[in-house]
Amino acid sequence: MDRLHTVILPVAGLGTRMLPATKVTPKELLPVYDTPLLQFAIDEALAAGARRIILISHPDKPALAEYFEPNDDLERKLADANKADLLDAVRASRLPDGVELSVVMQEEQLGLGHAVLCAAENAEDGPVGVLLPDDLILGAPCLAEMTEAYDPSAMRSLVAAQEVPHQHVSRYGIFDCDDTGAGTVLPAARFVEKPSVQEAPSRLAAVGRYIIDQAIFDVLRNTGRGAGGEIQLTDAIAQLGGIHAFRFSGERHDCGNRDGLVDATLAVQRLRKQVNLRVAAE
Ligand code: UTP
Repeated sequence: MDRLHTVILPVAGLGTRMLPATKVTPKELLPVYDTPLLQFAIDEALAAGARRIILISHPDKPALAEYFEPNDDLERKLADANKADLLDAVRASRLPDGVELSVVMQEEQLGLGHAVLCAAENAEDGPVGVLLPDDLILGAPCLAEMTEAYDPSAMRSLVAAQEVPHQHVSRYGIFDCDDTGAGTVLPAARFVEKPSVQEAPSRLAAVGRYIIDQAIFDVLRNTGRGAGGEIQLTDAIAQLGGIHAFRFSGERHDCGNRDGLVDATLAVQRLRKQVNLRVAAE
């Protein structure tokens, strides 16, 4: 597929694992070195060709929609002070011409599946992308890699996958597939949600990037509550069938927990220093 028209960013969650940092500031606006998680997500959605970005937010998190509004006063002050770099950084939150933002409220946090269903009325025709901003993937833009690999005539979903240590399988949805080869796209018979080490069919875990056939919305309308009493996206993807796992080439950081956010911050600091050294050498 050459481009992904609709990308859904579900950001309505409570972010309890990051309290008290997330008491007032939404998790998605926490900085990774110099940039909020939300900005990394927008950049990745744009790199995949998105022309409609749907933010699934919550009334208690108004700062997320505000992030996209221009701050004319601040921009004028930065321009007057000749701070061009900072001006560019502030303007990065403006979406380019031809890209539309829809903000939809998920009034009750009933789970990721329910959050995705909230986007149904605003999605364009064709497969939709889902990107979880707290799963930060550095390096090659993951959703763009997946868009290139997605074949709508042969797949109903393509889900980013990462090998995890045996002892961590019970934290993830695990693919039931042959993960012994070196292939990038692996057909999977099913998902097993948070299996025990003994029951896990592989070590390949689903992480926060999905491309899914539009039919997912009909499935989600009838998906009951699953693990944790929540409407699970993985249950609906499993019911849809035609699941494929995608081994991405970037480096994933789980920024939904404290240590993951610290590791990501150090990784971005290293990247920025490399760029500064390159610029200084030129
Ligand atoms: P998480 O499982 O990380 O939940 O959600 P959370 O609420 O963000 O964080 P904790 O577990 O309380 O610390 C995965 C993604 O799904 C979104 C979250 O915003 C996050 O991007 N989500 C989850 C919703 O948008 N709505 C929901 O009802 C649940």
